[in-house]
Amino acid sequence: MSNTAPEIHRGLAGVVVDTTEISTVIQETNSLTYRGYPVQDLAARRSFEEVAYLLWYGELPDARRLADFQARERALRPLDRTTSELLVRLPETCHPMDVLRTAVSFFGAEDPTEDDGSLGANRAKSLTLLAKLPTVVAADQRRRRGLDPIPPDPELGYAQNFFHMCFGAVPAPEVVRCFEISLVLYAEHSFNASTFTARVVTSTLSDLYSAVTAAIGALKGPLHGGANEAVMHMLNEIGDPQRAEEWLTEALASKRKIMGFGHRVYKYGDSRVPIMQEALERLVARAADPEVTRLATLHAALRHAMLTRKGIHPNLDYPAGLAYHLMGFDIPAFTPIFVMSRITGWTAHITEQLAHNALIRPLASYAGPDQRAVPAGAG
Ligand code: ACO
Repeated sequence: MSNTAPEIHRGLAGVVVDTTEISTVIQETNSLTYRGYPVQDLAARRSFEEVAYLLWYGELPDARRLADFQARERALRPLDRTTSELLVRLPETCHPMDVLRTAVSFFGAEDPTEDDGSLGANRAKSLTLLAKLPTVVAADQRRRRGLDPIPPDPELGYAQNFFHMCFGAVPAPEVVRCFEISLVLYAEHSFNASTFTARVVTSTLSDLYSAVTAAIGALKGPLHGGANEAVMHMLNEIGDPQRAEEWLTEALASKRKIMGFGHRVYKYGDSRVPIMQEALERLVARAADPEVTRLATLHAALRHAMLTRKGIHPNLDYPAGLAYHLMGFDIPAFTPIFVMSRITGWTAHITEQLAHNALIRPLASYAGPDQRAVPAGAG
């Protein structure tokens, strides 16, 4: 037996656990690629549906394949009556991420091919989730506003249809475009916590719905996807742009984590932020409203203060959180919107994990009491 203490990698920081062909962060250039394509170019030139196809099939679709993909996605959007009835029975006090997690679990329970882990079956399940999750998120936001759900419109694209189901109207094309950019940017990010969770579950040869349900649980936390909601709560807490500096001093003194800042992988700025920040600025400019200007000024002031004081850059959740607010979504819907996008990355990784599976089972260094005898029982 070796006496050398094992090297511990808390939080698996810096540990490379497998290979992936789906995406990579290139530290030297601070860039992110999906299947080799820079994400900023995809965000500028391609629709979210094309990016979903790319993540799943490895190549961008041609016109015929895209039309077929879109037709299949649009046909799967409606929820059946049983699902709708189940979801409205969940208490409104629960977070919409709990509704989404329950919905995915229910889809799994209803799916007769639940235990069929073939590539074809998993692709069909992935498309079903991509199509139905926005219907769940939109219906849940409307229910919390005391409104009836609006059925999906098969004539509309993924992003447009989501606005239609939430608000009964599709906003100006620039607004839909900003939303679509956020979906492209959120779609995939290598072995992040929720994707890794999905891969751990898949590695036991469990089913896709179980892996996605677990991934939703991992994304909900404020150190991960929940940060986009936390950003908006934080901006509301600060309120006045003049208070940003003072608020930050107090927050840092009390060891609070500043939401929407910092990243495990990016230490010099999240490669997705410049694109989302530009989209946010377009939303601010078209609003031309004093309340929006106040929020944008506060957003910029806190970003500046955090960079000067701590040298910590914002991550994607920082501009995305405010952008979703300006688009009219309720704060608790922000992380569910992240799910609507990341479902593409999660399911691409589930497929990849299954293609060359190895059970994910790390070791731990024991730090508990030495072995001891069990005392006699009290009785
Ligand atoms: N606010 C204040 N200090 C921070 C922050 C932050 N947001 N992020 C990092 N730091 C500080 C830490 O306190 C630590 O300082 P110390 O060395 O003096 O103790 C140092 O920077 C390193 O931070 P770690 O927490 O060790 O970095 P880690 O890689 O573990 O954490 C994380 C990354 C969890 C994202 C962290 O930056 C954080 O909590 N951010 C806020 C939550 C957030 O925005 N999450 C979204 C992530 S992106 C996404 O999911 C799309």
